[in-house]
Amino acid sequence: MRRIRLVLLLCFAAAGFILLLSYSSTVFAINEETLQEAPEQKVPYDKPVEEIAEYLAPMNELKLLKDLEFESCSECHDEDWETDPERRELMEPHDEYPGEFVNHDSENRWCLDCHSANNRDKLRLINGKLVDFNEYYRLCEQCHRKIYREWKMGVHGKRTGYWNGVKEYWHCTQCHNPHNPLFKPIKPMPAPLKPNEIKARSAETKDSETH
Ligand code: HEC
Ligand code: HEC
Ligand code: HEC
Ligand code: HEC
Repeated sequence: MRRIRLVLLLCFAAAGFILLLSYSSTVFAINEETLQEAPEQKVPYDKPVEEIAEYLAPMNELKLLKDLEFESCSECHDEDWETDPERRELMEPHDEYPGEFVNHDSENRWCLDCHSANNRDKLRLINGKLVDFNEYYRLCEQCHRKIYREWKMGVHGKRTGYWNGVKEYWHCTQCHNPHNPLFKPIKPMPAPLKPNEIKARSAETKDSETH
């Protein structure tokens, strides 16, 4: 009799355990779903910028190359190009692109402090190292270290909008023109996404995530 009771007890315990398991797995499933909809996601700020690129808004493309249908700076500035390091008022096409270089300690610096004289497709750091245009922030970091750090942490230039649960923030050059960085408050910021655009974009990502 005692034995049967023990077996019964064990059966109940097992059944209870199974019930608990299935219950907790539903709870877990619900949690996962709410997690996906949750607005905030942790950005690993301690990582180098390249590794947190997915949290950045897409890079703006170089306007010059788009408008003039040139693939690269070196289409004109090729190996036969003789760089004139003289500071001067530039003619075509640079009377329009970039058009000016002002308000950026411009008395003390000029184009070739940032653009490589020998490889015009690259930007040049103070130590002479060349970096790609999409690594422009290495340039800014040299002189605006504090702001650079704040930008990486999402403090400076932080955008309040959330997109698909991921915080997105903008590139320095999407807010500041390196050739005239003085912030003009009248110039409107990129418009926030409309709800239908947000839906379209999140549908896109869901698609790319599942495929
Ligand atoms: C359509 C041809 C063309 C393209 C494309 C072009 N440039 Fe130039 N660039 C010129 C010309 C022409 C000059 C000389 C202008 C003058 O002396 O007034 C020049 C001069 C310059 C100078 C001054 C130093 C020098 O070599 O004389 C810089 C810096 C410069 N370009 C940067 C760039 C960068 C950066 C790009 C790409 C983002 C670019 N250019 C793309 C035609 C071009
Ligand atoms: C403080 C650094 C700095 C200086 C000085 C500078 N540039 Fe730039 N330039 C940049 C950066 C960064 C970009 C890339 C901008 C982007 O991604 O939109 C750029 C982009 C360009 C482009 C591509 C078109 C555009 O407007 O984005 C041209 C052409 C150009 N620079 C020419 C020049 C010329 C000519 C001078 C001198 C009169 C000059 N730059 C001075 C940093 C600089
Ligand atoms: C070699 C040093 C140096 C580099 C590189 C540099 N800056 Fe600056 N920047 C300065 C200095 C110096 C000032 C103050 C200029 C002034 O008051 O005329 C300044 C001013 C500014 C300002 C404020 C303008 C104002 O007066 O309100 C902005 C915005 C800015 N920089 C953005 C950038 C960005 C974005 C980059 C990278 C593409 C960059 N800077 C690269 C030295 C630099
Ligand atoms: C979303 C837009 C945005 C982005 C992205 C952004 N900034 Fe700014 N920045 C601003 C605005 C707006 C101001 C002026 C308001 C203020 O002073 O806080 C400013 C001011 C500045 C100033 C001058 C004020 C100061 O405190 O010295 C500098 C320098 C500067 N930004 C550099 C940068 C650099 C470098 C980056 C990238 C690492 C960057 N910004 C990214 C919007 C932006």
